[in-house]
Amino acid sequence: MPVNADNLVILHYPESALRTPAKPIHEITDETRLIADRMVELMDQAEGIGLAAPQIGLSIAMFVADVPTGEKNSPDTDPPSATADVMVFINPKILAFEGAAEPYEEGCLSLPDIRGDVLRPPVVVMQATDLEGKPFTLRAGGLLARCLQHEFDHLQGVLILDKMTQKSRMKNRIAVRDLENSK
Ligand code: NI
Repeated sequence: MPVNADNLVILHYPESALRTPAKPIHEITDETRLIADRMVELMDQAEGIGLAAPQIGLSIAMFVADVPTGEKNSPDTDPPSATADVMVFINPKILAFEGAAEPYEEGCLSLPDIRGDVLRPPVVVMQATDLEGKPFTLRAGGLLARCLQHEFDHLQGVLILDKMTQKSRMKNRIAVRDLENSK
């Protein structure tokens, strides 16, 4: 079924698409590229640093990331903690985690008004395919490693709600209930 990329919008929890594991993309077509463009547009409008296809209702294994350079983040460190440019990840796989998991406060464009501490390893090695169909491997740290793991989770139907610390879960209890009741 053809997708009209212009009509795609960011869905909010508890939309069922957010809980549906994404299927691999077997062929990169013009439609894939239009969807990626639209995802970048929506991510920018929402001032996010990442967006996964299930968040716009598509169960396909693709996400986009744009982690800006800042005080703590740079694309030039080893490993990089920011993206030099917008990146598209198709059929991503995690090859390795490095370091002991540490907490960091995360938000999600599909979970308005919710922020919570999530434990994740500080470095991740990810393999994916770009929009040209070219495979690449990226070893990432800092905010970029966070972002990649968060977006990868979206492709499995996993949300930060599932991974937040007990304390953050308590703190966000009412906001989560409000979202569930707003549907
Ligand atoms: Ni998210």
